[in-house]
Formats: sequence, C-alpha cells, structure tokens
Amino acid sequence: MDPLRLDFGNLMAPRVDGGVDPELFAGALSDAFRGAYAAVEERRSTGELGFLDLPYATEGVARVRELADGFAQWFEDVVVLGIGGSGLGARALEQALLGPFWNQLDDEARDHFPRLHVVDNPDPFTFRALLERVDPARTMFNVVSKSGTTAETMAQYLVARGRVEEAVGADKARGHFLFTTDPHEGVLRAIGDAEGIPMLSVPPNVGGRFSVLSAVGLFPAAVCGVDPAALLAGAAAMEARCRTDTLAANPAGILATLLHHADVRQGRPIHVFMPYSDRLRPVAAWFQQLWSESLGKARTLSGEARPTGPTPLAAVGATDQHSMLQLFMEGPQDKVVVFVGVDDPEASVDIPNLHGDVPALSYLGGSSLGELLDNERIATAEALRREGRPNATLHLPVVGPGGLGQLFMLLELATVYAGALYGVDPLDQPGVELGKRLTYGLMGREGAERPEIADVDPAWIV
Ligand code: PA5
Repeated sequence: MDPLRLDFGNLMAPRVDGGVDPELFAGALSDAFRGAYAAVEERRSTGELGFLDLPYATEGVARVRELADGFAQWFEDVVVLGIGGSGLGARALEQALLGPFWNQLDDEARDHFPRLHVVDNPDPFTFRALLERVDPARTMFNVVSKSGTTAETMAQYLVARGRVEEAVGADKARGHFLFTTDPHEGVLRAIGDAEGIPMLSVPPNVGGRFSVLSAVGLFPAAVCGVDPAALLAGAAAMEARCRTDTLAANPAGILATLLHHADVRQGRPIHVFMPYSDRLRPVAAWFQQLWSESLGKARTLSGEARPTGPTPLAAVGATDQHSMLQLFMEGPQDKVVVFVGVDDPEASVDIPNLHGDVPALSYLGGSSLGELLDNERIATAEALRREGRPNATLHLPVVGPGGLGQLFMLLELATVYAGALYGVDPLDQPGVELGKRLTYGLMGREGAERPEIADVDPAWIV
C-alpha cells in the first residue's frame, strides 16, 4: 500500500509570506507537540482512545463479515439509519468506495449485492421518498446509535419498523433489523436482546465521530463487497507511522500543530478541507464534524471557561473554485486550506482534439479531465501561496480502502493531538445536550419538562 503524503511546504516561511519559521517548527512547536503527544499517549494508556485499537480488532471484523456476507445478502436494499458520527462515516465510505466498486460490476454481479442507502436527517420528504423506493419486505435496516437514544435515529427506526411490520407482519419484522450499538447499554441493546435481533457492537471507548473504522462504517462497506481488512490495514499503517513524538516525522502531529498554531498565533481559525475529488466530498463533511464537535468547547480540560475551537469548512475542488475561492484569495487572512489530491484518479477521460482553431478550447485537447482537475489543484495552491495564504496538501495515492483507512486515522489522530494543544477534551460534546433536552420536552418525552420558548416580539418578524 502506498503511503499517504502530507506536503506542508505552503505553510512554511519563507516559501509562504507569513508562514511558520522553520526554527520555530524545530523548536517551540516541536516541544509543544511532544507535550501533546505525551498527553494523548496518557489517555491511550488509560483506555480512553479506543479508536486507536480498531485497526487491530480482528474479532469485530469477523462478525461484520459474517453478517454482511450472510444475513445482509438476503435483502435487495440495506438502509443505514444513523446521524452525526453514526452516519457520516458510512456515507463517506459509501460515496468513496461503493459507487465506483459497483460501476465495475456487470449487471449479474451487481444483483448479487444489496443496494446501500445511508439516511441521517429525519426530513420527512427524504425519508418518505426512500420508503417509497424500497420494498420493506426485501429491505434490511441497520440502525446505528451508540447511545440508543438519539431522537432522529430512533424516530426513523420506529417508522421503518412500522412499515416492515405492515409488509411482513409483526412476528417476522425483527428479521429485517440489525442494530449497531453499545455492547451493554441503551434501549437498542435491550430491544435487541429481548427480540433476538442481530447486533454489532461499538466499543464503549470509541466515540461516535471516531467510530468509522468500527462496525459503524465497516458493516455498510462490507455489505457491498469492500474488504474491511483493507480499510483497517491502511489505518494501522498510519497509526504506526504516527507513533513518534518527533514532530517532523508524525504527519498527524504536523497537521494538528500547524493548524492549531495558525488559529491561536496567526489569527487563522477557519480551516478549509478541500478534496479535489467528488468521491471525497462526504469525507470533507465527516472531517467537518470531527474537527468542530471535538475542538469547539466552552471550557478547558482544567475547567477554565474559555470558548475555544477552529471552524472547519468543507469544500470540494474544482467546484468551489467557482464559489469560495474568491473569498479564500482576497478575503480576510483568517483561513488555512488543506487540499486533498488523488494521485491516481482510476478513471481516464481523454479530451479530444476538437476546435483546433479556437485557442480557448484547443489547449485542452489531448489531455484528460483528471489532468485538468489535478492541475487546477496545483494552480490553486500556488495562487494562494503567492498571495501569502497558507495551505497544505494531503496526497492520497488512490481513493481505495487502504488510502481511506490512512486518511481517517490521520485525521482522527490530528484531532486528539489538537485537543491536547488547545487544552480541551476532544472526546465529549456537552454543548449539544441542552438542545436535545429541549427537543425531548417539545416532543413530550416522559420526565422532560415542556420548555418555555422565549416569546419573539412580533415587530421582529416580517
Ligand atoms: O460524535 C458523536 O458522538 C455524535 O455525533 C454522535 O455520533 C451522534 O450524536 C449520534 O449518536 P448516537 O450514535 O448515540 O446515536
């Protein structure tokens, strides 16, 4: 497997005006990283960072394979219901790996695999449309909720269960569900145990947004023929590469340290994540959640009130060159752009030599769409550099399971290192609790008080 590479030259001085001084990198920043690394290793040793063990959790993979190759193959459609960390990873894998994998199959082979759908938002329009497209009698629902209490996912589960019961009868309905949840706790676990519904476990020490390499992401991938072991091998390779407190040798450490420095020392709190690949668009959404939910905190680890956190922004090249690049080039100097380039796009679309007498078109003839896309990335990075706008590039050899495993692990590790550098806990999300409680109250959950929603002066509604 070819290694993922991080090119951070465009974050460094004098290559980029206002970039990081190499002496600072080798000195204070390396020292700071050593401290962050030690803090992360400390949490690893107390068993809090379960995501670091996932690449080596082969028992879990065996169970995923068993259910994906057996149970799931009885169905025409498999619908994953999960939100946040329980949905974004599956969606990223689906778009990156499954679509292209399917395209390579002939019709007969394609019929062999169920169609996969990942649904997160309880938008009635989307959900109804999906339920109208699939036949509940031939559909399996993989309900993914670590807590087993997330209102959005549980509501979708109830709707799906109602539809399946109507189609096949209450007795047989349970045969259409697979729960991915905590191994011991929660409502889903209890229902699954009581009804004999097959279940996959999310280890208790793996938080939602760090769970893509657990059954949460591996099962949906495996259902459609992607080898979970290849994803984990990529993650293991990156995890091993990052087992060093030498900043210059640790790609996740470099990313975390330079983005943290950009935020707190250079006034660059906006971190744009911009893959040049449609297949990686949902990876940008996944990273957006990982970086914001992990690092956006009201308090430091020592309890001091100090609102903290960079703002990640998902973009995609070349599309967003025609949308946000103007802002990145000329707007406030408050951003760092992290590009993702793909060395081998695996699809070749040649551009024919037509309109040879029209210079605005003829220069394109004889090259390919892949070449154009990659050159646009190179040109955009250079244009930003020339304007003193720092950026970095992650080079993915290919959009395959090994490369994605490396990318997920790199970004997860960067997130916990950044948590240590910011002095916040990247594993919790206390800020989402109040909204959840108010929703419970509004929806009439037992024990939840109906909240007073502050009146709006009618003059403020036009
Ligand atoms: O990262 C997180 O912890 C969250 O985004 C959760 O994944 C999300 O809230 C869904 O939680 P659950 O899996 O408990 O339904």
